[in-house]
Amino acid sequence: MKNLVSMKDLSVEQIRAILEQAQAFREGAKSTLKNHYTMANLFFEPSTRTKMSFEMAERKLDMDVLPFEAGFSSTLKGETLYDTVKVLEAIGIDALVIRHEENNYFESLVGKVKPAIINGGDGTGNHPTQSLLDIYTIWQEFGTLKDKVVSIVGDISHSRVARSNADALTRLGAKVRFVCPPEWQGEFEAVNDFDEVIASSDVIMMLRVQHERHDGATSFSKEGYHEAFGLTIEREKRMKESSIIMHPAPFNRDVEIASELIECDRSRIFKQMENGVFIRMAVIEMILKGRE
Ligand code: NCD
Repeated sequence: MKNLVSMKDLSVEQIRAILEQAQAFREGAKSTLKNHYTMANLFFEPSTRTKMSFEMAERKLDMDVLPFEAGFSSTLKGETLYDTVKVLEAIGIDALVIRHEENNYFESLVGKVKPAIINGGDGTGNHPTQSLLDIYTIWQEFGTLKDKVVSIVGDISHSRVARSNADALTRLGAKVRFVCPPEWQGEFEAVNDFDEVIASSDVIMMLRVQHERHDGATSFSKEGYHEAFGLTIEREKRMKESSIIMHPAPFNRDVEIASELIECDRSRIFKQMENGVFIRMAVIEMILKGRE
């Protein structure tokens, strides 16, 4: 693996290898990279978790991390993403994490620039390391993904998390279902009644309502949405005893999930964030090893 832009870049064997390496890092394993590397994280869309988690992973791998602030970069003078990446290539960056609002932005880079490209999110397209950390969290919980029923609920059509997970979870043997209002269904096959899937789900993965990707044409009521598609306190009571709650975060409290459930016993939301660091260490190490 030379880059990671989509879950489709990974075979099931490679996904398993990443999970195992993430677990080894969790248990204290150290980097086995032969060279010293320098990375930069280029975030052209807001981020707290993904950006900080990549930076933590890079530092834990003893790498140098050069800061990049999109809001103070030559992008504002009209420099293209390709030209920005060529600058970083020229000054000696080995790998880049990029988040960008344009779907498939990476097509202008992969195979054309020297630094490895790791996708930290492209528009509504892909978010492979989020999918990997979600898979890791489910695997950690149940020891397998085979036949686990994962219900992904919410703003499906605007979600790169849903898109990345749909493909990967299915390939790993999970049974993935989508629940959303009809207007957010996009290309997915989805049901519109959340109550239908609650009791049979092993994982309920809530998605953030992505207001920034809506055109504002339809009116949105927080209370109405919470009632119909939110994980309410009442719905949580009907979940299976062993089932877990996930959310990639940031969450809108009391919109897609009741505030009280965010840190409840079956919530794995902060566990997902913790796991993200180990997953990203494993991904970066695998990519750079593939280039050594
Ligand atoms: C997600 C994203 O940016 O795609 N967040 C994340 O990376 N943890 C989901 C979201 O913003 O709703």
